[in-house]
Amino acid sequence: MIFKKSVIETMQKRQSIRTYETQKITTDHLKEINDYFNEENNLIGPFGKKGQIELVEVTNNVTDKGIKLGTYGFIKNPSAYIIGITENNQYSLVDFAYTFQKLILFLTELGIGTCWMGGTFNRNSFEKEIQLDERRFIPCITPIGYPKQKQRVFDKAVRLVVKADNKKSWDKLFYDANFERTLTKENAGLLEVPIDMVRLGPSASNKQPWRLVVSDDRKVCHFHIEHTPNYSTKLGYDMQLLDIGIAMCQFDLACQELNIKGNWTVEEPKINLLNEQTEYIVSWHLKS
Ligand SMILES: Cc1cc2nc3c(=O)[nH]c(=O)nc-3n(C[C@H](O)[C@H](O)[C@H](O)COP(=O)(O)O)c2cc1C
Repeated sequence: MIFKKSVIETMQKRQSIRTYETQKITTDHLKEINDYFNEENNLIGPFGKKGQIELVEVTNNVTDKGIKLGTYGFIKNPSAYIIGITENNQYSLVDFAYTFQKLILFLTELGIGTCWMGGTFNRNSFEKEIQLDERRFIPCITPIGYPKQKQRVFDKAVRLVVKADNKKSWDKLFYDANFERTLTKENAGLLEVPIDMVRLGPSASNKQPWRLVVSDDRKVCHFHIEHTPNYSTKLGYDMQLLDIGIAMCQFDLACQELNIKGNWTVEEPKINLLNEQTEYIVSWHLKS
């Protein structure tokens, strides 16, 4: 078992951390992280795609190879970075995000701070540090380190700008049988907690683009994205696909903790979409 504590409680506690203590990650923790990386299952997502992760320690943001890893001042005193690597297609990105979020929760449980980063880092500097074959790229990274209690004014400002503490309410995200009716917490049945964990997950610029439709009998849950137009066009990949992988991970891990068994399928449901920006991605089925 990867998680020793309640992963639902860990999801409730997790926050993006941008300022760290100067203390290095302990050798015990580094060993636990390495063991986690060496377990192949931890790197494979629900669609069976395998991503890659690499840990690079830094001192004053400089690696052993002498490369300065840049985050435009967003991150202070990281002990190391974990670099994500995958192929640039829909299911690889979704799978990758699922596994990366699981890793983030594993680190959170250890008391290690993280911050998903898809945009505000210098990709060139990170690419120099690792061996990238030409089919792969870096969708995101996270700094790691022990969270500093006192945040910088800068961190507070970032949280304010993206409204990080403003998680959307159920009626903006979740739907009952079709997109015409919203789903209430009271009516969600068995899936109430897993759905609420989707709501608490991190997302790029806190856009929370996930839209879930739960079937009448509460046995199926369809995951959609409501795309923010042109959100990451300049970066050459769809960053909001990562948000969906995160949502699937939060949902799945909550189900596992609550002993609710189910599996993932792709089967375009016959429901009218919310709007032109909405795209169907995947469905979760309760195992009877
Ligand atoms: C895919 C993805 C990309 C992100 N990219 C960045 C980034 O480039 N820079 C940054 O400071 N935060 C980034 N974040 C962190 C979000 O801003 C943060 O998750 C959101 O504001 C919610 O706050 P919370 O994680 O504390 O719940 C990213 C998050 C995700 C999921």
